[in-house]
Amino acid sequence: MKTILLSETDLHRGPLILINRAHPLQPCAVALQTLYWKEKRIPLEARAASLLQACVRACGGTGLIVPVSGWRSHAEQMEIWNDSLAEHGRAFTESYVARPGCSEHESGLAIDLAKAAAEIDFIRPDFPCDGVCGAFRRSAADYGFIERYRAEKRPLTGIAAEPWHFRYVGAPHAVLIEKNGLCLEEYASFLQRNGEQFCRLANGKCARVRYIPWTGAAMEICPPKSCWQISGDNAGGFILTLWE
Ligand code: DAL
Ligand code: ZN
Repeated sequence: MKTILLSETDLHRGPLILINRAHPLQPCAVALQTLYWKEKRIPLEARAASLLQACVRACGGTGLIVPVSGWRSHAEQMEIWNDSLAEHGRAFTESYVARPGCSEHESGLAIDLAKAAAEIDFIRPDFPCDGVCGAFRRSAADYGFIERYRAEKRPLTGIAAEPWHFRYVGAPHAVLIEKNGLCLEEYASFLQRNGEQFCRLANGKCARVRYIPWTGAAMEICPPKSCWQISGDNAGGFILTLWE
């Protein structure tokens, strides 16, 4: 059995980190892959990029579903924030743009999508619920993506409805989050309250998911299976995924 040593830095790494105003991103290296739309380069965390492409292909969206914005540097997020403040004012900006340092885009795990069109709004792209975009929406969780900002969760996320913004968390988590009507702010406490969760995926794989609180000092864990993944939640614990 392999032993994994977890340190405080690990709390802030992995596909399940919560990033919002109360939980800023802790800078760490991220492996990026570049997606293209016409001449535009859109970097995205490598695994998220390959699963996004697989999902778009599977629902017949190649050329019809367009990546608009993926990974952003801190400076880029700052520029978007400042430009939006100047152009649209504070209420709009706080609704649709995360503060620099608190944007999922800076982690490379978020992607804004649009329906292909001659003109695409960079801040609020049109990504409808019907047609090929609807097909993507229905398959996204199986590929590990959640629709991150839903209208009814605004009091928890602090962000208005953004039907174009998808966040990569990994398949069993996206399925559990969607199935239980949660947003990412609620996921770790859901796991703490309800204990280990079992999830069967569309591809036939099964996963068990459990929450491990941070003890305040370096921790050793021994996953009982050979195939596992661990992610910090950027809020005080880890989420362990065991594949059957
Ligand atoms: N539009 C989202 C909230 C961001 O700026 O990260
Ligand atoms: Zn976004």
